[in-house]
Amino acid sequence: MGLVREPLQAAPAPAVATETAPARHAVARPAPTTASRPIAVYAPPTDAIGCPTTEAVAGATSLQELQLAIQGCLACPLGPGRLKFVFGEGDPSARLLFVGEGPGRDEDLQGRPFVGKAGELLDKMIGAIGLRRDQTYIANVVKCRPPDNRTPTSEEAAACLGYLRRQIELIRPAVIVTLGATPLRELVGVSEGITRVRGQWKRVVVGGREIPVMPTFHPAYVLRQYTQDVRRAVWEDLKAAKEWADKAEGA
Ligand code: URA
Repeated sequence: MGLVREPLQAAPAPAVATETAPARHAVARPAPTTASRPIAVYAPPTDAIGCPTTEAVAGATSLQELQLAIQGCLACPLGPGRLKFVFGEGDPSARLLFVGEGPGRDEDLQGRPFVGKAGELLDKMIGAIGLRRDQTYIANVVKCRPPDNRTPTSEEAAACLGYLRRQIELIRPAVIVTLGATPLRELVGVSEGITRVRGQWKRVVVGGREIPVMPTFHPAYVLRQYTQDVRRAVWEDLKAAKEWADKAEGA
């Protein structure tokens, strides 16, 4: 059937983490230094407000409850630097879930995912497969902006991953589209280059459910490499994801 691929047969089983709580205190401390200037070392708070408990995350029964439980999070060094916590947004029972890397400047200012230039392109990409943004759900690996828009460290991603996994449990999407290398690595456990693996179905198990994952390019990469080939590749990936989601809905 045209562009439809066979996700669950073709995908190799990824290594899957099963815990839903954020890894607390997962931030590596720098080695002691002999420099005379004192170095401020980030130490996560130990109270339940700055560092949401496992029970608060697992016990949230709706996205709103989850957001309330985690929006004050200071579990990693990104927390104190944020302007706004970017939880994610969209249809709470969306069939298609897009997962990006983390908020940039515009997202940090507005508290919403993908609202800058990359977001404009993501909206167009979603439109090209016949959907509106609000018919999908859009989230990120980390909820707070990394300084200078750098890639979040694995410790930062690990501190936030339980939140994303609980979001996925609550949304129960038919398909997850990972945007760029970071969500593919941190959520799915696949570290191969995105140019190599885009368009190839992967899978992740969340809350005991196996979910097909379609890796594609990050919209910011598409903006930098605005060629017909790259745009066509993304369109094909999204079309395959939508076709699978439609099929899963009918099943
Ligand atoms: N890039 C991302 O990965 N996420 C956003 O929300 C915005 C830009």
